Amino acid sequence: MNYFKSDYFTYINNQLHCENVNLTKLAEDFGTPLFVYSKKFLVDRYKELDEAFSSINHKIYFASKANFNLSVIKTFYELGSGVDVNSAGEFYRAIKAGVNPKDMLLTGVGKTDEEIRLGLEKGVFVIKAESIEEVYVINDIAQELNITAHVAIRVNPDVDAKTHPYVSTGLAENKFGIDSIYAYDMFLECSKLSNIELVGIDMHIGSQITTVQPFVEAVIKMAELYKKIQYAGIPLKHFDIGGGIGVLYNDETPFTPKELADKLIPIFMQLDAEIMFEPGRFLTANGGVLLTDVLYTKTNSLGKNFVVVNSAMTELLRPSLYQSYHHVQPIEKIDNIDFQADIVGPVCETGDYIAKEREITMVGRGDKLAIMSAGAYGMAMSSNYNGRRRPAEILVDGSEFKVIRSRETFGHLIFDEDTHI
Ligand code: LLP
Repeated sequence: MNYFKSDYFTYINNQLHCENVNLTKLAEDFGTPLFVYSKKFLVDRYKELDEAFSSINHKIYFASKANFNLSVIKTFYELGSGVDVNSAGEFYRAIKAGVNPKDMLLTGVGKTDEEIRLGLEKGVFVIKAESIEEVYVINDIAQELNITAHVAIRVNPDVDAKTHPYVSTGLAENKFGIDSIYAYDMFLECSKLSNIELVGIDMHIGSQITTVQPFVEAVIKMAELYKKIQYAGIPLKHFDIGGGIGVLYNDETPFTPKELADKLIPIFMQLDAEIMFEPGRFLTANGGVLLTDVLYTKTNSLGKNFVVVNSAMTELLRPSLYQSYHHVQPIEKIDNIDFQADIVGPVCETGDYIAKEREITMVGRGDKLAIMSAGAYGMAMSSNYNGRRRPAEILVDGSEFKVIRSRETFGHLIFDEDTHI
């Protein structure tokens, strides 16, 4: 059985702990499925990235789509982070976490007029546009409001991030940003608009990128463009490299922020720009686990074993959607032989699984398991499918912990619904 190596989730007397808090106890007291996050992990990762780039003018904007819990957002904000919001809903969450709009970036490939108006009225730091049509809409709304909109344009650098096709965003064929071939002319054209101030270039080439090469390639391309645009008299101020820093789930060998900084800082030094980052996964993925109970085990006539647990694609969609790997391990180390099994959830979809053909200590009904690396795109992508109620979330800080979201009740399932027939 393969245990995930972590400084934040460790076995003490054969019991898995998050920092100093016993996870068996949390699972018993609060029930499962249950998300548990380590605050120390969040703080350490933020500082690691921040310090790696400390020699240049930079700012981190936490991509709240990875984990939008208010306490998680607040943890980063208190460390000096800004917040990247992708919709009016994420804007609302950030406001509720106490974030000032001037510390937010408004992103998204298809912002509605209402979202643009909200961003402008509330004064977000930058709106990132992804098409020329969108820039015109921003200009019109800014004119109505009689203000100048601070706009960055997302350029698609056409590099291969070498990641899962569903999270690769920087190829010319992808829907994101504007084609780098048209970018220069578009900046010139948009600079003529009365209510737009072009303040930066933005890119985001994909997610879970585990080598620095795609970043270097894209940054070199975008840095050339940045200089050319400045030379044309448009006083850009920001260069935003997006998110995408990959992490360890299984056997990847992701680069460290320091390794990224060593390659990128020499390029950034040639630019007159504040460098911006939008990490989500790097700051949160390995800071969270999803605790679950084994409901049943069974073996079919082909000799295939199933472990049916009480977590599903509704809590962790990643395996079903991207065939992602997450370590699954008993919360209490048990002295038993290993067997191979599919670990599956209760949802009525064949695609509902947590792990396939996994070597795991033989577990049985009532045993508790931890699904590792669940801090990013876990709860944020959860759903109520099959009438499932979203789990609670707990934030651990040393020997203390707080319930930062309670388990949904049946009332949540029918909120605002009625029978009108
Ligand atoms: N900035 C933009 C514009 C983005 O679209 C994203 C992620 C980020 C920043 C943060 O990327 P990160 O640092 O987390 O890689 N649900 C998928 C990941 C989708 C990422 C979407 N955009 C997954 O579970 O792997």
